[in-house]
Amino acid sequence: MKASILVLAGDGIGPEVTAEGTRVLRAVATKFGHTFTLTDGLLGGIAIDRTGTPIPAETLAMAHASDAVLLGAVGGPKWDDPSADVRPEQGLFAIRSALGLYANLRPVTVHPKLVAASPIRPEILKGVDLLVVRELIGGIYFGEKKREADWASDVCAYSGDEVRRVVRRACELARGRRKKLTSVDKANVLESSRLWRRVTDELVRKEYPDLQLEHVLVDACSMYLARRPASFDVIVTENMFGDILTDEASVLAGSMGLLPSASLGDGPRGLYEPIHGSAPDIAGRGIANPYATILSVAMLLRYSLGLEKEAAAVESAVSRAIDRGVLTADVSPPGALAATTIQAGQAVVEAL
Ligand code: IPM
Ligand code: MG
Repeated sequence: MKASILVLAGDGIGPEVTAEGTRVLRAVATKFGHTFTLTDGLLGGIAIDRTGTPIPAETLAMAHASDAVLLGAVGGPKWDDPSADVRPEQGLFAIRSALGLYANLRPVTVHPKLVAASPIRPEILKGVDLLVVRELIGGIYFGEKKREADWASDVCAYSGDEVRRVVRRACELARGRRKKLTSVDKANVLESSRLWRRVTDELVRKEYPDLQLEHVLVDACSMYLARRPASFDVIVTENMFGDILTDEASVLAGSMGLLPSASLGDGPRGLYEPIHGSAPDIAGRGIANPYATILSVAMLLRYSLGLEKEAAAVESAVSRAIDRGVLTADVSPPGALAATTIQAGQAVVEAL
């Protein structure tokens, strides 16, 4: 097949990890006989430096014209001045929102070879296979923001439709898995959560009676993720809770550098990015873990291009690279010689 993919490398380790993601995309194209046209665009801090805005109109136009977007990471100390009006993250929010990508899928599994990389006990990690579906273009991230000299506010608002569309997506995904849905909210405190819970209840009762639904408060959920993570199948939650819980869940996998994500809307076009940030502390050293980005490429193949066989091949290639012990510093055992970003990418291509 033919597909056009926009690559937004961004800042920090972004360019290093997307280079390995595109290496794998090119290898998939060769092996399976596809034609992928890769185009580079500007987003984040680098876009501010070059154009004065974190998301130039050209980037948005290219995103709309592409079948999928692969993104590295945005942000860094250079643009971190809290009083600045223009910030790299605005570019990220703008592209997620402009493409209507309300469902952010963040799968978490534990590779047997990496059990020791997690501080959680092995018996607790056994059987962990969960998927967080994070609402991505609403809630407190997008509500009205106000700031005065010594006072500030952020509004967290959701409409019923905004809740329904993301919960529906989570339900569809749960149907293809173990049929269990955990909806996470703070309904004992927040009105937006009380709406979320009521809408979710109604929707599941009417349209997905075959699913097992539970409601869990976000504070309790953060504890259960550490105590009994294997009990979760699909977790659906609002934007900021999903952001926080997935950083926590990455500890199960062993590193932030292992967790991919897919951001989807109603159509096939999606945005694919590792859940980690730009990691300015290790940027430019060639030691970042590219597996989260490469696994995001697998999700791109699956969800935007419908190439399930190719997606599974990439996932299994990453798994075999890990089996072989090709591990970057974030997950390599103490004393072992860690792989570089490029070596890890190459190991995946070889396994393919
Ligand atoms: C994520 C990130 C972003 C978010 C940051 C970089 C703004 O943490 O994708 O999880 O909060 O959405
Ligand atoms: Mg985050």
